[in-house]
Amino acid sequence: MLNFTFKNQTEILFGKGQLSEVSSRLPEQAKVLFLYGGGSIKKNGIYDKVTTALEGADVIEFQGVEPNPEFETLMKAVNVARENDVNFILAVGGGSVIDGAKFVAAAVNFEGDPWDILVKGAAFKNPLPIGAVLTLPATGSESNGNSVVNRKETSQKRPFSSETVQPVFAVLDPEFTYSLPPRQISNGVVDAFVHVIEQYLTYPVNAPLQDRFAEGILQTLIQEGPKALATPEDYDVRANVMWSATMALNGLIGKGVPQDWGTHMIGHELTALHGLDHAATLAIVLPSLMFVQRDKKQEKTLQLGERVFGIKEDDKEKAIDLTIKAVQDFFETMKVKTRLSDYDIEKSAIDGLIDNLERNGLTALGEHGDIDLAKAREILTLAA
Ligand code: NZQ
Ligand code: ZN
Repeated sequence: MLNFTFKNQTEILFGKGQLSEVSSRLPEQAKVLFLYGGGSIKKNGIYDKVTTALEGADVIEFQGVEPNPEFETLMKAVNVARENDVNFILAVGGGSVIDGAKFVAAAVNFEGDPWDILVKGAAFKNPLPIGAVLTLPATGSESNGNSVVNRKETSQKRPFSSETVQPVFAVLDPEFTYSLPPRQISNGVVDAFVHVIEQYLTYPVNAPLQDRFAEGILQTLIQEGPKALATPEDYDVRANVMWSATMALNGLIGKGVPQDWGTHMIGHELTALHGLDHAATLAIVLPSLMFVQRDKKQEKTLQLGERVFGIKEDDKEKAIDLTIKAVQDFFETMKVKTRLSDYDIEKSAIDGLIDNLERNGLTALGEHGDIDLAKAREILTLAA
């Protein structure tokens, strides 16, 4: 096992009615920026519940953080936060709103152009504390320090990461996910699944506990994901999906093991250039990446096939092919398509994707740093 340090500062408030705990978690004399998305929370009643939970606090609202949160929009929120001397951000929504809150938190006291936080890894001081009310289980953003921001103007989608912007608390009420459209249920399950894969499907380092954690989450998602589509108002199903998605990317399962993240990095370019949903990009890239990296990932792919998908096949190459197919079939079962052509993206678009990877310095991806631009091209070509 590799060396590691582990600390997760987010207090999880899980279950029905836990929103009522929020007021007791706010700082003294809180001046809260209530940040949310396109308005789904107004339709499903969460907005009213949050407003009630915040009664008595000084609250400024900012509506309109879009999926794949947009830099320009977030800069408007930064100005609102600055003008109103906000000292806390409550993010209510999915990964986009929570990621957006992290960027706002980091940018508020940043002198200079906050875009540098994303493209140059510029250091920032005194970020605002954040609380999250999660409405879409998928990204794990509610209990990690990662944030991904999109900028249409430059066709870039860039991440930054800092434990200083990790939410101090996160409300996970499974009932808040009942109103999700099927497409977002699917996206969430696929995204969480791939988060586990990025931290599991590398090479063995004798870390059987991390492996079992990862396999447990994958099995739970495979079992509960289709049920979430079939019986959307089943509390237990929603609860299990929600907790799986949080555990998939709260840092725990990735400790002491190598990590890949190549699928995510290539996928981000598909969103930046073609506007695809994050999960769709992963469903396209992962099976092909598994194929191209099959020798490097041989042992863990065989373990995944046998332990998670129950594949029993002595011929190793056949077993790997069956495992890749099982992963692809799972995405299709979750109604997320797995080929570029399913999204009307032509082979000729691959040049632009490769150029963007190069522009963003993403030329040595994967757990061995061996996914160069030629390999990325091979992966995308296979996914055409
Ligand atoms: O904008 P609103 O009106 O809230 O609607 C949203 C949005 O249209 C809707 N939605 C959310 N909760 C709902 C709901 N609709 C009805 N009922 C509810 N309860 O769903 C749509 C998608 O929301 P979004 O937040 O964009 O989805 P998701 O949670 O999948 O987040 C995706 C973003 O997270 C980033 C992705 O790159 C992408 O930008 N990621 C963040 C990560 C992290 N912080 O660790 C890791 C991930 O790999 C990922 O990169
Ligand atoms: Zn993801």
